[in-house]
Amino acid sequence: MGDTRPVLLLFAMSDNGEFIHRFIPGTSGRTLILLHGTGGTENDLLELGHRLDPEAALLSPRGKILENGRPRFFRRLAEGVFDEKDLVFRTHELADFIQEAAERYGFSQGQSIAVGYSNGANIAGSILLLRPQTLHGAVLLRPMVPLVPPDLPELNGAPILVAAGNHDPIVPVENARELVALLRRSGADVTAFFENAGHGLTETTVTAAKRWLEDWGRI
Ligand code: MLT
Repeated sequence: MGDTRPVLLLFAMSDNGEFIHRFIPGTSGRTLILLHGTGGTENDLLELGHRLDPEAALLSPRGKILENGRPRFFRRLAEGVFDEKDLVFRTHELADFIQEAAERYGFSQGQSIAVGYSNGANIAGSILLLRPQTLHGAVLLRPMVPLVPPDLPELNGAPILVAAGNHDPIVPVENARELVALLRRSGADVTAFFENAGHGLTETTVTAAKRWLEDWGRI
């Protein structure tokens, strides 16, 4: 599906620490913060964002880390083994960017939902755990536990969808279950959607995320 909305498209290049990103205004007060997977760009999830909530504004940054030329949101030491120091730094950097973007483009963080896939879901989870005021809630597609903070945040019923694959070769299903438990212990209102799928997104996942957003994400 193409980008059919006849609206202003804003594109900002990064040469001073800012995130390369796209912002597409919406027709409601809602904003989806789109966070791509490893090797993705700011363009990858725009179509998905439009499908999930055609009225929402879309803010889509590109991860600043390059792994063999492939953009990511934080460094890893091996698949599923994260550089926690870098993850913490990048989490605050991205949370600051979302805050600045909200001021610049005039959207409300209280009406913002992160939609992250894989590496993007992992940094979204880390934002929820370390900077809980940044977002209203999140759709985490194929996520894992990004880190366990020394003190759990107070997520105050934040709506979160965890969409995991029972046969995901990258995220063991127990790890996705641990994430659900961690977010619930932190006070989030978590919907766990586990399907017989791998790491890739399926039409079933997209339909479930769209329905969940209609039920929970429409502030
Ligand atoms: C990550 O590094 O965030 C996870 O292993 C998912 C991935 O990007 O492959």
